[in-house]
Amino acid sequence: MTRSGRGRSSFRLTIRSVLATLWPMAQRRRYLFVCTNLRPDDNPKGSCAAKGSEAVHKALKEQLFQRGLAKVEARVCTASCLDQCATGVSVLVEPDHFFYGRVTVDDVPAIVEALQMGGRVERLVLGPEDLGRG
Ligand code: FES
Repeated sequence: MTRSGRGRSSFRLTIRSVLATLWPMAQRRRYLFVCTNLRPDDNPKGSCAAKGSEAVHKALKEQLFQRGLAKVEARVCTASCLDQCATGVSVLVEPDHFFYGRVTVDDVPAIVEALQMGGRVERLVLGPEDLGRG
């Protein structure tokens, strides 16, 4: 990203911060839905909770808050099964409408950094070959 792009991003965040102060219930720019579905250990589909999604959810919330992004940029929510079990931990990003897959706590700083920059972590984005696995 160019130096001027970074400046614009900071300006946008400042405006958002002011708006969030004026209207504390302002809609966030993005919503991250983290699947926290839990299935029994013997279920062949597995589940995101068994792969650590509760910790991913918690880390996302904490790191967005620490960077001052939680009230304006993104809200992290729990979700039930998102039908991407084979590649969980699954995170659906809206309104961009893409999935992060195989997410671990170690990926959270990169996800938060990308949110702050208005981008995404391409290595985690599920492609058509993953989405078809269910
Ligand atoms: S259990 Fe998480 S996507 Fe299905």
